[in-house]
Amino acid sequence: MTAVLPAIRDFEAAARARLDPAHYDYFACGAGDEVTVKANEAAFARLALLPRVLRGAGSPRIGVTLLGSRAAMPVLVAPTAFHRLADPEGEKATARAAAAAETVMIVSMAATVAVEDVVAAAPGATLWFQLYVQPDMAFTEAIVRRAEAAGCAALVVTVDSPARGRRDQDVRNGFDDLPEGMRCENLRDDDRGTVRPIVMSPVISWEHVDLLRRMTRLPIVLKGVTHPADARLALDHGVSALYVSNHGGRQLDGVPASVDLLPEIVAAVGGAVPVLMDGGIRRGTDVVKAMALGASAVAVGRPVIWGLAAGGECGVARVLGLLRDEVEHALTLCGLASTHDLEPGLVRRC
Ligand SMILES: Cc1cc2nc3c(=O)[nH]c(=O)nc-3n(C[C@H](O)[C@H](O)[C@H](O)COP(=O)(O)O)c2cc1C
Repeated sequence: MTAVLPAIRDFEAAARARLDPAHYDYFACGAGDEVTVKANEAAFARLALLPRVLRGAGSPRIGVTLLGSRAAMPVLVAPTAFHRLADPEGEKATARAAAAAETVMIVSMAATVAVEDVVAAAPGATLWFQLYVQPDMAFTEAIVRRAEAAGCAALVVTVDSPARGRRDQDVRNGFDDLPEGMRCENLRDDDRGTVRPIVMSPVISWEHVDLLRRMTRLPIVLKGVTHPADARLALDHGVSALYVSNHGGRQLDGVPASVDLLPEIVAAVGGAVPVLMDGGIRRGTDVVKAMALGASAVAVGRPVIWGLAAGGECGVARVLGLLRDEVEHALTLCGLASTHDLEPGLVRRC
């Protein structure tokens, strides 16, 4: 990767040129007609920024502390599966880049490198662990214990997946499994010596959230909340943070853009816990818009994959660096000293 790639879009083009087409499609595609995939990005384009002037704000501060984890920028690495499809080092490369950027990486339960090996490869990285609750609660507990023992600082429980999303492009490509030699290493079952398939189960309920709260002292982040009523229920069930997400449009097609869902969820939560969001963030200005509408921080999924496929660890570092620079630049142009100064009045719907 020698050419200067000035925008996330360029990383996507570079990734597309390098990846096996079926693997590119797996990362890029969404469910159904991809209405939600497109909406996530289009919604940011419909939000305008109204900068303030002559405020003498100086260089902006963009660091955040979330659930005790410090990040040098308000952009986290969203949990995404199968990083070794993008680069042989897979999640190890992503974690090293996240550590260098001093931000949080949320390691997917569907990672192709075991969480213990990710930790070993990236000393000093701040990792959170993403979990799909498995109907076999003893197995779920074993996974949670591994994440705790590895030093993960929070548990991100994805709740938008009572069934697997139907992604037509994967069906057209016949992509339904990892290639030989790659497995979801966090699903390895020591008792059986095999890797279990991930079960997306429709029986998962609020009871499981209660069980998890009793099971672990890690803060629980609920990922995939889109309905304000669920946001209120989540508070009743004692979660530590909410994470507004439509899974990058890969689960239920037709869900609104994440950034359009944000204001209602933020209002429902009323400041009781942090609210994270992801979906369609491709620019620093998108980060600023989401935070002005009440997000405590955001996360990026595909941009990190594009960096990884384009240039391994260095590519991810450049994607994260680009976003950090763009956030700082956007705040400066908005006349703000800190992300804490962002407020809804800076955003206009157009
Ligand atoms: C290829 C791919 C794999 C994903 N795997 C997971 C996963 O294992 N667990 C999860 O909670 N979300 C997963 N997601 C959803 C992301 O965490 C995130 O919600 C989404 O990518 C955000 O949208 P963006 O790609 O536009 O940034 C995945 C997304 C993609 C694109």
